[in-house]
Amino acid sequence: MSSQAVWQGAGRRIFMNEVGTRDGLQMEPAFVSTEDKIALVNALSDAGLSKIEVTAFVSPTAIAALRDGEIVMREIARRPGTVYTALVPNVRGAERAIEARTGELNLVMSVSETHNLCNLRMQRAQSFAVLQQVIATAQQARVPVNVSLSCCFGCPMEGDVPQAEVLAWVQRFADLGVQGITLCDTTGMAYPSQVHEMTRAFKARWPALGLTLHFHNTRGMALANVLASMAAGADRFDASIGGLGGCPYAPGASGNACTEEIVHALQLMGYDTGIDLPALIATAARLPALIGHEVPSQIARAGHRLDLHPVPAGFDAIRERALARQPSLPYP
Ligand code: COA
Ligand code: ZN
Repeated sequence: MSSQAVWQGAGRRIFMNEVGTRDGLQMEPAFVSTEDKIALVNALSDAGLSKIEVTAFVSPTAIAALRDGEIVMREIARRPGTVYTALVPNVRGAERAIEARTGELNLVMSVSETHNLCNLRMQRAQSFAVLQQVIATAQQARVPVNVSLSCCFGCPMEGDVPQAEVLAWVQRFADLGVQGITLCDTTGMAYPSQVHEMTRAFKARWPALGLTLHFHNTRGMALANVLASMAAGADRFDASIGGLGGCPYAPGASGNACTEEIVHALQLMGYDTGIDLPALIATAARLPALIGHEVPSQIARAGHRLDLHPVPAGFDAIRERALARQPSLPYP
């Protein structure tokens, strides 16, 4: 697809993966009840999300907010056409996820040595060895695997990670036969030209490997990065309802690309996201009651661009006065 064509959706399908229930809720200080989590996932299913990262099967000490992963995964209503995925750090997590009938395992490691040590307490090579075992476990159970690579567009502690190094990690996982890779901009360091080039290089090298982009809006560039990667052929994005999210082990991390902001923009441009936008916005509107604070979403605040406002009080008088002053002024 040429760079110009990205402005015209022309019905092209874009797939949205909701990560608010994992990347979002893992950051929330107040525990969201299991019942509320299930209701939230069900509302997101009804809104038409392609994939939902329901929870994480990690150590409950590391991420207490998601300690109820099994119950949530077992009790959600499963909509045909939606993939229910979960983050898994090790074989123990994979076994828990498979037991709870998770539809896809999302594995995670960082392409930055420093961030990987902070987040997963392991060197990258150690993580890779662990994930090889996880992939073998998943393949035995015939559960698809996606690998999310953190800090692909920069590490908040190390700085830029060379593109060749990022792609070398992709190659290692491609060689193990995983179904998809997510290139994550964990702390909002990505910028459009960088994202375009990375996406182009990925697509050229692995045309058949699933590619997802995961942006954070930390520096206001998430939507620009989505469009830049679409111009290079990307069609699947992680995003978070309300713009929730962040990584507790990455300094300066803040909200994910906001699902309703991205869907709102893409639908206006003529893309098919498969999503019921009013239902999505209504779901976002219920978040503050759930988590006890406002969400970063601009759409939650401003509404759809065609949610019109009434004219101000006294508008008729304003118009009449204007007409009385210049009754027949011709237009230039
Ligand atoms: N599910 C449940 N419990 C788990 C687990 C899993 N997948 N993996 C490890 N544990 C438990 C162990 O049983 C152990 O419990 P104990 O202290 O009661 O004996 C404890 O967690 C520590 O286990 P250990 O193997 O020593 O791991 P660690 O302390 O080196 O931590 C991780 C490694 C990866 C398991 C842990 O740091 C983690 O889960 N991190 C989550 C990171 C994350 O989700 N970040 C945000 C997303 S990017
Ligand atoms: Zn993230």
